[in-house]
Amino acid sequence: MPSVSMVVNGKAVSGEVEGRTLLVEFLREGLGLTGTHVGCDTSQCGACVVHMNGASVKACSVLAMAAEGAEIRTIEGMANPDGSLGVIQQAFQDNHGLQCGFCTPGMVMSAADLLQTNPNPTEHEVRDWLEGNICRCTGYHNIVKSILAAAATLRGEKIAAE
Ligand code: FES
Ligand code: FES
Repeated sequence: MPSVSMVVNGKAVSGEVEGRTLLVEFLREGLGLTGTHVGCDTSQCGACVVHMNGASVKACSVLAMAAEGAEIRTIEGMANPDGSLGVIQQAFQDNHGLQCGFCTPGMVMSAADLLQTNPNPTEHEVRDWLEGNICRCTGYHNIVKSILAAAATLRGEKIAAE
């Protein structure tokens, strides 16, 4: 079997995969990073969103071998170094942005990508961005609220650091 190497959450990893192995399978089954979920397997629900070389991708639509040499970040890499929740995760908790939590890892990863390119999005821009992320439970209102709250916190942190 061919092997694949990449950097996941800052750590160099490698493993054997088949040509058809999906990135999400490699992360979940090969590396045990089960925070990345599989909701549909047809590139629609967004539960599997991770960052590949800094941009969000649906890990069910990327072959593991296509991520050779890539920098991958998963939901497990979103916590603070001390293990506490990262800013976006905390905002979801504080604003009741989740119910069952199944969509949440993908929502957080998508939100992180949005906020790195657009630190001050409007509500409309957040809703637009989440087009590829489906939630069965929340009605999206509190998810949008969470992301706007996270954006405000991150902007505050940036100003404080300047
Ligand atoms: Fe990848 Fe649904 S599992 S988009
Ligand atoms: Fe249940 Fe979104 S919180 S699917």
